[in-house]
Amino acid sequence: MSYGRYTPPPCYTAPNANSPLLPNERLSSPPASSNGIIRVIKWCFVVLVLGLVLFSWSREQTIRAHQDAVSKREQAVLIQERAVARREEVVLHKEGSLFTLEVQLRQKEHAVRDSEDAVARRENAVYAQEREVSRREQAISVRERSVVYREDTVRAREEAMRADDERRIRAHLIWTDPVAEQRCLSYEKRMYHAELQNVPEGENAQKWCMQTSINIHGIAYDHPDSCTMVQADGGMKVIGHWTVTGNEPTCRTWWGNHEKKECFGSHQRRVEAHLYNHQQPWDNWSEMCFSTPSDFAWQSFAHPDTCENAGTGGIIGSWFINVDTKECP
Ligand SMILES: *[C@@H]1O[C@H](CO)[C@@H](O)[C@H](O)[C@H]1NC(C)=O
Repeated sequence: MSYGRYTPPPCYTAPNANSPLLPNERLSSPPASSNGIIRVIKWCFVVLVLGLVLFSWSREQTIRAHQDAVSKREQAVLIQERAVARREEVVLHKEGSLFTLEVQLRQKEHAVRDSEDAVARRENAVYAQEREVSRREQAISVRERSVVYREDTVRAREEAMRADDERRIRAHLIWTDPVAEQRCLSYEKRMYHAELQNVPEGENAQKWCMQTSINIHGIAYDHPDSCTMVQADGGMKVIGHWTVTGNEPTCRTWWGNHEKKECFGSHQRRVEAHLYNHQQPWDNWSEMCFSTPSDFAWQSFAHPDTCENAGTGGIIGSWFINVDTKECP
């Protein structure tokens, strides 16, 4: 700014020269007045600068405080994040332990189910055993009942037999004299029969017959071979039949007239003999021949090897006996 020539500022209005209120010097010293304005302006500027500085300082302070706050918050956030991470870790750890717990629980559940199955299986086995036992018990009780029934039956039968025996003894049963049958069955063997007497009406005569002993030719027979019921004289006769062996002279055939015959094969010779005491026509010649023994050549023969009915020539038996090589080569 040049101070050489004054030009009034735009805001300035020329003062009225005639005005008594204003001293003249004022017009004469306009530079002094402009110095004050400059000073004011300077002060204004300084104040402005100071204000600016203050403002920027305060602003900086504010920003710094804000930054501080932000960094604090960041730190807090970091701390929180770390805490969150820690919690996450904790949660993860807990999740892991929960998972292992679940696995353990599942294993335990499996074990429990397995043991339940085993228990059910054992229960089934026990039930089956119980059924088997009850079946056996039933079978045993059935058997017991059948045994009791059989015992009763046996006792009843024994009782009946005892009563039967008593009645039989009281009846005084008696055989008629035994009668020999004409026919011989074989050597020394003949049938006899006799009638059982004193059997009361209504008794089992055939059964009593089979329980009654007899004595024939001095030999005791506990009971007959058989008993028959025969219709005779308007009633039933009970007949007992016996086979008597020994002491039967008319059934005692014998061999005689032994003769050496031809050689038969090597070292063997046929011996022939005649049968004596054969009772024709009742006795069966073949039965008699094949049952009559013979002693000859220092040997005993129970019967001949062959039998032949030679008609009028009689009954001929043949034996084939061993001889030495001189006799029959
Ligand atoms: C004689 O006995 C024999 C042998 O037991 C038999 O084969 C034959 O038929 C009997 N003969 C008669 C006539 O009974």
